Amino acid sequence: MSDIKTLSEFIVERQAEFPGASGDLSSLLTAFRLAAKIVNREVNKAGLMADILGAEGTENVQGEAQQKLDVYANNLFIRMMKTQGAVCAVASEEDDDIVHFDNGGKYVVTMDPLDGSSNIDVNVSIGTIFSIYKRVSSGPKATLEDFLQPGSAQVAAGYIVYGSSTMLVYSTGHGVNGFTLDPSIGTFCLSYPDMKTPDDGKIYSINEGNWYEFSDGVRNYIDACKQKKMSARYIGSLVADFHRNLLKGGVYLYPGTTKAPKGKLRLLYEANPLAFLVEQAGGMATDGTTRILDLKPTELHQRCPLYIGSRNMVEAAMKA
Ligand code: AHG
Ligand code: MN
Ligand code: MN
Repeated sequence: MSDIKTLSEFIVERQAEFPGASGDLSSLLTAFRLAAKIVNREVNKAGLMADILGAEGTENVQGEAQQKLDVYANNLFIRMMKTQGAVCAVASEEDDDIVHFDNGGKYVVTMDPLDGSSNIDVNVSIGTIFSIYKRVSSGPKATLEDFLQPGSAQVAAGYIVYGSSTMLVYSTGHGVNGFTLDPSIGTFCLSYPDMKTPDDGKIYSINEGNWYEFSDGVRNYIDACKQKKMSARYIGSLVADFHRNLLKGGVYLYPGTTKAPKGKLRLLYEANPLAFLVEQAGGMATDGTTRILDLKPTELHQRCPLYIGSRNMVEAAMKA
């Protein structure tokens, strides 16, 4: 049997790579790891819950309103981070405003607690995305300024994909490493060390239902993909589409449309963390013209177009 390295062993081993090296990231990732296992458990029994307890909006056996899984995941990740102490505030897709912990923590986190919500009820892969920044403001509470840092200021980012297996993938800016949850022992084990994405690929991922709202450039690029007999793959969960393309090589596009010029995806907790990871893996992420990590956010829930994946494919899509 080959050597097994657990996520906790790996975190301790690589702790010195994180700015501050005080063990903050180690304990923060421990909080994420635990939350991921609990969400994984809930995701795996989602169908069962619906059968036994009724669809969301009904009450559970204790008479409490059943929470949608994305609200459940949001509350859980926030609770875990609050207990852990290194994070003083969180910006989440599920909360209109910043959530403060008032604990003097040195970091702020942005997150999409449950990505791919439309796939929750139909047994298709979903995920969690997170991004960690050093707090830059100095008052008693974190401010908007802490969250509106460009993506290039991220100190770490990662995602969890709840798929045919559950994986946690993260980077502290020293490469990307992927861990698979072994459900028999409840432990994440290193399965994809130092992940690199191919410069080219054969997969393009885009919601072609928006065809009549795309620019000529985007349509030209899709046509070119078809002429090259590339494969169209679109799960509709960004994390899962991104993860597949990262491993196999490919491009994911959510461009602006005539109805939504800034597209659909959110800069702070979807585009930025995945852009950080893809660059660490040798790939590329832009909004069609500008590097995602160079964009200066102006609001918490800002949207931006996203072209992300294999370097040569992102470049070709931008030129089309
Ligand atoms: P969320 O479930 O967090 O709101 O994100 C949904 C996003 C993303 O996961 C996915 O890639 C995209 O929406 C799909 O959008 P379309 O249905 O418009 O293609
Ligand atoms: Mn999402
Ligand atoms: Mn979400």
